[in-house]
Amino acid sequence: MIKKWEMQIEVHQNLQTLSSTWQHLWQKATQSCENAYAPYSNFWVGVAILLENNEIIEGVNQENAAYPSGLCAERVALFRAGIQFPHQKIKMMAIAARKADNPQMLPVTPCGACRQVMIEFENKQKTPIQVLFQGAESEYYIVDTTAHLLPLQFNASSLGLQTV
Ligand code: THU
Repeated sequence: MIKKWEMQIEVHQNLQTLSSTWQHLWQKATQSCENAYAPYSNFWVGVAILLENNEIIEGVNQENAAYPSGLCAERVALFRAGIQFPHQKIKMMAIAARKADNPQMLPVTPCGACRQVMIEFENKQKTPIQVLFQGAESEYYIVDTTAHLLPLQFNASSLGLQTV
């Protein structure tokens, strides 16, 4: 027997076909790249999160001479949102990246650890989070739930808990 899972991604060839809210969030994510602290990889990642109260929370990658001590932009933004607005649901999240020496934006997909953290936030708030990032040919990808980024997720129920 073979089991198959489906994920769904909305694809846009350019920014103009995205909603004005997405365009705004994308602009915030690209601008925040400038604040990345990434002297080792020179790969700047910027994230902008829209909360239900319309606040926008930004995050950038934070590197460290002891490499594993750094943190991705996605988790910086999510944890920041969790501290500043613990009771506000996250609606949308845009992820942008570029090299330090080139203003051209580059494709980036969230790493596995960040997907796990996104899932935790989504499950906690019991409402899907939409995520925007660029695909391999610089087209724009939108997923309507972080669950589509992480099939077979490990979560509270995996620990035998009803809820968190
Ligand atoms: N990085 C992020 O911040 N987010 C991603 O989605 C992928 C990778 C960071 C981690 C590290 O600072 C640099 O990009 C190179 O891996």
